[in-house]
Amino acid sequence: MFSLFLSIENLEKRFNHTVILDEVNFSLERGESLIIQGKSGCGKTTLLRCIALLEEIDRGRIIFDEKVVSKPGYVDRSTNRLEISMVFQQLYLWSHMTVLENVSLPLWLRNGKNRRLADEVAKDQLAQLGIDNKAYDYPNQLSGGQRQRVALARALVHSPQLLLLDEITANLDPETAHKVIGIIENIIASGTSVILVTHSIFTSTIWSYALRFDGNAWRQEKLR
Ligand SMILES: Nc1ncnc2c1ncn2[C@@H]1O[C@H](COP(=O)(O)OP(=O)(O)OP(=O)(O)O)[C@@H](O)[C@H]1O
Ligand SMILES: [Mg+2]
Repeated sequence: MFSLFLSIENLEKRFNHTVILDEVNFSLERGESLIIQGKSGCGKTTLLRCIALLEEIDRGRIIFDEKVVSKPGYVDRSTNRLEISMVFQQLYLWSHMTVLENVSLPLWLRNGKNRRLADEVAKDQLAQLGIDNKAYDYPNQLSGGQRQRVALARALVHSPQLLLLDEITANLDPETAHKVIGIIENIIASGTSVILVTHSIFTSTIWSYALRFDGNAWRQEKLR
């Protein structure tokens, strides 16, 4: 049965009176995933930030899990906290904390979990991404691909329903990028919806849609 999981309707976003995003429309059902493509500066990061409820929109609305979570003058910050996770282009790991603290801290800070329990959940998440052997290292002791996996672990540790990823493989060599994409496709296979900004072309049939900016308009295309 159709359920309104994520729906972006006539979204417009301006910065200082300049229209950055105009008439963006797309929707996903629970578990469906989407890649976003378009040239530099067309607004991909801004669109992800709007969906992550980090930006107010100027027209239209965003529906998540059958609720209006964003419209002009209103952003539902409570939804943002746990159900939608975002990994940024720059990752933003905390350099003065170990890998384990990076992944565990949001859990005990935001979910109110006790610290020992949070560490256990975080270690389990790191193990799932094959990076638990680096738990007591600091981010600057890791390779680029290892850092990507830590950032993914931190985003996944809350079991979000929607994971937003902004060009997270752009700075990786092709082989490591391929591995990280494999991890993301496993996350999709486990039932989480992923929205990924990328310049790569994917052949896997796990991606349901592409949203592309053709220089004029945003179009949602079915991939499978
Ligand atoms: N906080 C801000 N204030 C003013 N303008 C902004 C802000 N954030 C982004 N912009 C502008 O919005 C436009 C879209 O930026 P955005 O970062 O979303 O592009 P992008 O498609 O992600 O580009 P890239 O592929 O280079 O990452 C750019 O012209 C940028 O200068
Ligand atoms: Mg960007």
